[in-house]
Amino acid sequence: MTVPPSSDLADSLRRLRDEARARLGAARDLAAVEALRVGLLGRRGELTALLRALGSVEPAERPALGQLANEVRTEIESAVHERLATLQAQDRDTRIATEGLDMSAPGRPVRLGHLHPIMTVERDFREIFHAFGFEVFEGPEVETDAMNFEALNIPPDHPSRDLWDTLFVAEPGSWEAGAPRPAEDGTILRTHTSPAQIRAMLALPPPIRVITPGRCYRYDAVDASHNFEFFQVEGLVVDEETSLADLKGMLQEFARALYGDGTRTRFRPGYYPFTEPSVAFDIGCLVCGGPGCPACSRSGWMTILGAGMVHPHVLRAGGLDPDRYQGYAFGMGLDRITLLRWGIPDLRLLMGADLRFLQQFWAGR
Ligand code: PHE
Repeated sequence: MTVPPSSDLADSLRRLRDEARARLGAARDLAAVEALRVGLLGRRGELTALLRALGSVEPAERPALGQLANEVRTEIESAVHERLATLQAQDRDTRIATEGLDMSAPGRPVRLGHLHPIMTVERDFREIFHAFGFEVFEGPEVETDAMNFEALNIPPDHPSRDLWDTLFVAEPGSWEAGAPRPAEDGTILRTHTSPAQIRAMLALPPPIRVITPGRCYRYDAVDASHNFEFFQVEGLVVDEETSLADLKGMLQEFARALYGDGTRTRFRPGYYPFTEPSVAFDIGCLVCGGPGCPACSRSGWMTILGAGMVHPHVLRAGGLDPDRYQGYAFGMGLDRITLLRWGIPDLRLLMGADLRFLQQFWAGR
């Protein structure tokens, strides 16, 4: 085996380093740099070949030569990186120059989402009632028959159940067997927010002053003013001395906060199993202002909510002693109030997810 003089090998290493620098400097694009890198440092590269020769020099010479070889490798590597960086920067500069980028052009507007009109109205209600000292208490949308009906003084088979077209939750797996059966535990979709009254009484010590906004469900055919899914806000006040006069004052103030100081209001007798006495609360027609029009069935009035004094059975179901506590409750639908506010003719427009339609009703808050 011929032992190459160590000085030859050192010369070759230095020459390779200088040549590598020159060749890299002449490389015009990223692919050319990569080809040079492989040709120099790759497994069959020129430097690798020289390193192999290192194995056959005098052992005494090896450390010095090894160190030189390492330096050469590092230098070639950094020359490769430098050249890559330079070429990339040049690429960017030519791209910017040829793109005709106009740094003074205005940016593209960011598309912000916003609340659905119904939620906008709900937030307004929260704000109004917050100012009157109400807190928000939310109940579940999937309820039990016991909470939705029985605790609210509507026993099984009582005819007043017909007032609420209920959606029953099927027992798991029952659809496979054939006819869907209601779940045996009486699980339903709540038909109103009133069960949250019971939950609030069970959860909070009196005096209670809550609103319970949320989604409700009824087995209803969909048309311009009905949907199987809708929104209510319930209110409940329970204290030791709460009267119908308090209820009337509260609702009148609410109507004025919502529709302005001049809003006309009236109470009519109503019926709900869970309130006694019960009332319907009307405001002067928002469309015609009084004389009568199609929107108010020519009566000049619009009913916006139902209310009444909490029935003693209901207080008891909520764990409270009716000899000590009285309360009032009210419940209203948000959907119709939303339609009226913007003069939207059809509830189905609100239920679709067409942003071109929904974006019109955003006050930008
Ligand atoms: N829960 C009633 C409904 O859905 C509304 C209501 C609530 C009436 C509270 C009186 C008191 O029709």
